[in-house]
Amino acid sequence: MTSKEIINNLDKIDITEPVPANEPERQYYFIKKAKEIYKLKREEAGRDLTCTIKTFGCQMNVRDSEKLAGILETIGYKRSDSEEADFVIYNTCTVRENANRKVYGHLGIMKHEKESNPHMMIALCGCMMQEPQVVQTISEKYKFVDIVFGTHNVYKLAELYCNSFHAKGTVIDIWKDTNLIVEDLPTTRDSSFKSGVNIMFGCNNFCTYCIVPYVRGRERSREPEDIINEIKRLADDGVVEIMLLGQNVNSYGKGLKENITFAQLLKRVTEIDKIKRVRFMTSHPKDLSDELIEVMASSDKVCRHLHLPVQSGSSRILKQMNRSYTREQYLTLVDKIRNRIPDIALTTDIIVGFPGETEEDFNDTMDMVEQVRYDAAFTFIYSKRTGTPAAAMTDTNDKAVINERYQRLIKRVQEISAEKIKGLTGQVLPVLVEGKSEENGSLLTGRLSNNTLVHFVGCESLIGKIIDVKLVESKGFYYMGEAVI
Ligand code: 5AD
Ligand code: SF4
Repeated sequence: MTSKEIINNLDKIDITEPVPANEPERQYYFIKKAKEIYKLKREEAGRDLTCTIKTFGCQMNVRDSEKLAGILETIGYKRSDSEEADFVIYNTCTVRENANRKVYGHLGIMKHEKESNPHMMIALCGCMMQEPQVVQTISEKYKFVDIVFGTHNVYKLAELYCNSFHAKGTVIDIWKDTNLIVEDLPTTRDSSFKSGVNIMFGCNNFCTYCIVPYVRGRERSREPEDIINEIKRLADDGVVEIMLLGQNVNSYGKGLKENITFAQLLKRVTEIDKIKRVRFMTSHPKDLSDELIEVMASSDKVCRHLHLPVQSGSSRILKQMNRSYTREQYLTLVDKIRNRIPDIALTTDIIVGFPGETEEDFNDTMDMVEQVRYDAAFTFIYSKRTGTPAAAMTDTNDKAVINERYQRLIKRVQEISAEKIKGLTGQVLPVLVEGKSEENGSLLTGRLSNNTLVHFVGCESLIGKIIDVKLVESKGFYYMGEAVI
């Protein structure tokens, strides 16, 4: 169902009837009830009420926030960018410690904000809320928070909103895990022409440094029909670029009735006429199949970009990380991909300072960067996450040494990235025009299939279209171009 169809169907729901037990009917019921509560609050305030969602972390959270926005707008809230809104949601991340610190920083400010706005509600959700010690801190020190929920019950926002209206104190609803996937709830997209689409949730890989499997639960895939139908609806609504989202898309399909691989799903997505570009995120090197490389190579709708997190260039550290591949296997995979798809851009994630990482291990990482020559790399300093196996490993790493290594890595990554980007100078390539440039409002900005940013002069009516642009001058991590129309 489209968001519009869902909203039209709300008229038929009778909230004097008992609460439906099944989803999504239960949530339609609560959305209708929440609309009544919103009306009361609106009358009391004498004005429309506003909402804002602050999203931390990855594309998964960005997509979850679009779902939250869809529910809030259906209830009646008007979107705002300000944290002075009447309903503020923080969709949190906990992959590294500084993500947590940021949220507590915001909450410190919000306490005063809430004291001056009697209509204000604050909700916290997302990965950080799946950690019991965080929820305990919130309930002890941040009692002004109205609703706390996690990653598994984002779809329940309307129900929690209704509960909060009748409750005294914070409504807390955290599930340890779930095998439920609730379809057909309203969503408000941030963009009119591109969209993320979840294909699976959770992660079973248990890399030893990573908290994601603990906060996002076990892997579960959406039914292919649900995914394809959602994408067809998006295409009918003007979307041309799809980003298929999963913690490890390569294990898509496990546990489904239909025997289907990620490569087969990807192929089906490319067969949807109005979809012009397909990306996906993230692909684990341990199970990237030849079949996937073939599907990528044989459709020019699949973007020439692969994010292939390496994490470390040292086989010893990779073993400690439980990544299930050696540096040699990774390099062989890179060769195979580049041989079949020569124009592909490869990007990666790298962690510096994993417990016990020696200078020799780090040099292996530097060497990996030299050999692969990534088009871009996201670099992170290892952050200890309570409850993960790595947190229990002996860590004698010196902060200053790690910082120095980190700087060395960034410098080299950036140099290589700039050299690689330069290589396209003079070519005319298709660009999906994404909007006005943030730095210079008189320019438009868009992306090549390989994800490189291009700025150029053009008319705003081009936003959302794919046009040819000549790449005139490389500026480090982006291009200045000229539209060829
Ligand atoms: N410390 C530092 N970086 C981490 N990542 C995941 N967990 C940690 C951690 N504990 C990085 C990995 C992953 C990316 C999303 O975040 O590189 O690929
Ligand atoms: Fe974390 Fe590894 Fe799963 Fe990625 S594959 S989410 S790094 S456990």
